[in-house]
Amino acid sequence: MYYSDDVVQEVRSRNDIVDVISSYVKLQRKGSSYFGLCPFHNEKSPSFSVSPAKQMYYCFGCGAGGNVFTFIMEYENYTFPEAIKMLADRAGISLPQQEYSEEARRQRDLKSAVLDINKTAAKYYYYILHSGQGELGMRYLKDRKLSDDTIRHFGLGYAGQYSDALYRYMKKQGISDQLLKESGLFQVSEKRGMYDKFWNRVMFPIMDVNNKVIGFGGRVMGDAKPKYLNSPETVIFDKSRNLYGLNFARTAKKNYLLVCEGYMDVISLHQAGFTNAVASLGTALTSQHASLLKRYTDEVILTYDSDEAGVRAALRAVPILKEAGISTRVLHMEPYKDPDEFIKALGTEAFQERIDHAENSFLFELSVMQKSYDMKDPDSKTRFFQAVAAKIAEFELEIERENYIEAVTGRFGISFEGLRRMVMNVLMQGVPVRKEPVRPQAKTEKDDGIRKSQRLILTWLSEYPKLFPEISAYIAPEDFSDELYREVASMLYEQLEKGELNPARIINHFTDADEQRTVAQLFNTAIPIENPKEQEKAIAETVRKVMDYGIKQRTRRLDPSDIRGLQELIEAKRKLEELDRLHISL
Ligand code: GTP
Ligand code: MN
Repeated sequence: MYYSDDVVQEVRSRNDIVDVISSYVKLQRKGSSYFGLCPFHNEKSPSFSVSPAKQMYYCFGCGAGGNVFTFIMEYENYTFPEAIKMLADRAGISLPQQEYSEEARRQRDLKSAVLDINKTAAKYYYYILHSGQGELGMRYLKDRKLSDDTIRHFGLGYAGQYSDALYRYMKKQGISDQLLKESGLFQVSEKRGMYDKFWNRVMFPIMDVNNKVIGFGGRVMGDAKPKYLNSPETVIFDKSRNLYGLNFARTAKKNYLLVCEGYMDVISLHQAGFTNAVASLGTALTSQHASLLKRYTDEVILTYDSDEAGVRAALRAVPILKEAGISTRVLHMEPYKDPDEFIKALGTEAFQERIDHAENSFLFELSVMQKSYDMKDPDSKTRFFQAVAAKIAEFELEIERENYIEAVTGRFGISFEGLRRMVMNVLMQGVPVRKEPVRPQAKTEKDDGIRKSQRLILTWLSEYPKLFPEISAYIAPEDFSDELYREVASMLYEQLEKGELNPARIINHFTDADEQRTVAQLFNTAIPIENPKEQEKAIAETVRKVMDYGIKQRTRRLDPSDIRGLQELIEAKRKLEELDRLHISL
């Protein structure tokens, strides 16, 4: 659903951010902003700020931020259209009806019809579980130590012993066979016509991040095969893009997510209070899963089964997560098979302890590698450490190598100096090492300084519009480093030129929650400044840094035949020199 800028702006301006957030979070005024306890992470003292002037919120603790739409999307797990609808209702505004192309409308109607069927099925299975027909299923779930609360929370259900009960139920609601086929919950045979895919199984509804049922997993109650049947992929169900439990885990106040293998693992972890657990849907972890996870966290702890298959799955998952910028640790489940068994045997505290001691993924890889060497045999042991040295040599930064050498020293019993020399040897031989995926840390460390300066400029401009004439004399929107920064800067410049400062409106241009968070961060960057003298220095220094970076960037991009560009560049360099004389205060 696409709404015009004006509509979005109208809804936003009729929903004051302080009013809206106040109904979720207790806010207290402090200076020009309001502060409260952040609803997006656990904290004891308030670092969550809401600015009535900017119509934005920002948490200095966890970096959550955005405008009133972002808040509702994050808090209520809503999509943008859902958030705008809720806020429009709240303000008594009626939204225009969107025009769809024929094909787009057909697709949307199909999706929503299939969602409805899944929802109806989930309610039906839930009802059967709690009815007389559900006795077997209920007994099975109770035997597995699931509480009534847990059963309700996950909407667990039961498909009874008739193979066409759901089909008959759906037909009573007047749903066509054509649509029922699209839902993947039915099968067709020449002899019998249409009948249920699931029967005699306990049912696990699979929900997307918006709590919509998109498919099911069904488990037999004994040892029959296959143990699980899952919905096939449909217009709404894509296994490589959804994770079981993420609808709950996304609001868990932890800065890491637990990724495990099975539905039952997720459920027993949540029941034990580890509400940040998710699982893939009976498939290996994909790069789409990794980018989905990255939207919610920078760290994953793999809690895969301790058997060989689980170890192999973990080894495969680590590089996929790393590629997405997620750092990974691996939890040791031994002597138990999976989280479900572990918790039943040793309980919550013991599991938390295992989380605290989860192993860095690189060291985990080394431990697995070690198993193929005989550490009692000196030759074999040497070969193991040579392999370790070769792997450590792949790290680009010396500090990373040193840190890993140190960690390996402690873990595998080799002297620091000894291993360091081996790593040096590998590096000096110039053995072509396997190219690792670009390591984000190496780059961001340097870039972060300049990005922070750029964010400071944007924050100052949004808080002190009177700085605009002076700052814009030195810095142009093109001087910012990322596409997103440049886009935001040019919108902000445009507003300031017209004298219509409105940072919250800028956020509306971005529909992706990550982008909105970044934009909010652009307007909420602060450095501690003691006095006016220091302030002046900080501004001049920041302007100089951003300008200097902009010039370097332009030099790199300059086409040598572009005389005008060259002149502008020379002019910019002259201004940069003149900057020593710049005195601006806030
Ligand atoms: P319990 O054995 O009941 O504790 O369930 P679990 O979730 O621990 O299952 P397990 O560790 O055996 O498998 C992990 C996941 O793989 C399951 O949650 C399913 O998503 C999937 N899976 C397991 N067995 C099958 C199967 O026979 N067919 C399919 N399609 N998927 C399966
Ligand atoms: Mn299990």
